[in-house]
Amino acid sequence: MTEETKLEELPGVGEKTAEKLKDEGYKDLMSIAAASSGEICGKTSIGEATAEKIIHAARSELDMGFDTASKVYERKDDVGKISMGSEKINELIGGGTETQSITEVYGGYGSGKTQLAFQLSVNVQKDEDEGGLNKGCVFIDTENTFRPERIKEIAENADMDPEEVLDNIFVARAYNSDHQMVLANEADEILENNDIGLVIVDSLTGQFRADYTGRGSLAERQQKLNRHLHDLQRLAEVYNVAVFISNQVMSKPDVMFGDPTEAIGGHILHHAAAFRMYLRKGKGDTRICKLVDSPYKPEGEAPFKISEEGIIDK
Ligand code: GTP
Ligand code: MG
Repeated sequence: MTEETKLEELPGVGEKTAEKLKDEGYKDLMSIAAASSGEICGKTSIGEATAEKIIHAARSELDMGFDTASKVYERKDDVGKISMGSEKINELIGGGTETQSITEVYGGYGSGKTQLAFQLSVNVQKDEDEGGLNKGCVFIDTENTFRPERIKEIAENADMDPEEVLDNIFVARAYNSDHQMVLANEADEILENNDIGLVIVDSLTGQFRADYTGRGSLAERQQKLNRHLHDLQRLAEVYNVAVFISNQVMSKPDVMFGDPTEAIGGHILHHAAAFRMYLRKGKGDTRICKLVDSPYKPEGEAPFKISEEGIIDK
């Protein structure tokens, strides 16, 4: 039995139950295996005991559990890296943004988050020896800032066929946070039927911030964001794609020393993103990328510039 096994074929799941699960976005065994029983009960009319049985069945179908270290090492071998455009940033983070994980970039207005996303959507399409994966990109645009002309410009400057580059980017505009979550779930279909190496959400938090205002809704917002990040992490692992998310910062007026800004979403993002980078404006047109979190690289900074060609070394 493999991931190909249909929900209906799981012991204890009839067609009706399968339908209920699918309606809530549990489309495959992995999404069920990764869920908690409380979560499934909360979303569907399925009882707790049944939910537990279904999760257990999905987990045993997928043969999830302990692996030997050599197996884990083998899987790591499949990890692909996409160049950020600047060699100094690549060095800083260990080669580029990685498949199978979430990379978060946060920073203030105009710090370069969207430009970096555009650069990556082009770079993923390059050959492996040029910092790409020879694959396409899924772009979830939540702020209406996707600009095909700019992507064309970056592609032309890299001697790529701009029309072909645009054809390999699947774009969707998210109108609100629920729609954004639906799009992340619907990405499955694109990822299954196309050769995709990168999923971008620019920005991750904007719509959530707009939809959940006021203290009372903070808990709900965090819960939804958490669910959304789980969905994205699942895409990263199941389809061996890099997930790149951008995030605004909020100012913390109570901080007197150092940089008084903090990424939105707080600790939830801390746990979800394997790589976290903070972008800020430097002197003149310089921008600075600071590596804040990484599984294996120390903190550090790299200067870069945003030019006609895209993201380049300073
Ligand atoms: P918010 O989404 O507002 O939070 O900002 P952001 O971090 O996404 O900023 P973005 O990536 O849009 O960066 C904006 C900066 O990139 C601008 O201040 C410009 O300096 C530069 N930039 C934007 N578009 C272009 C362009 O077409 N050509 C060039 N050369 N630079 C650009
Ligand atoms: Mg932006």
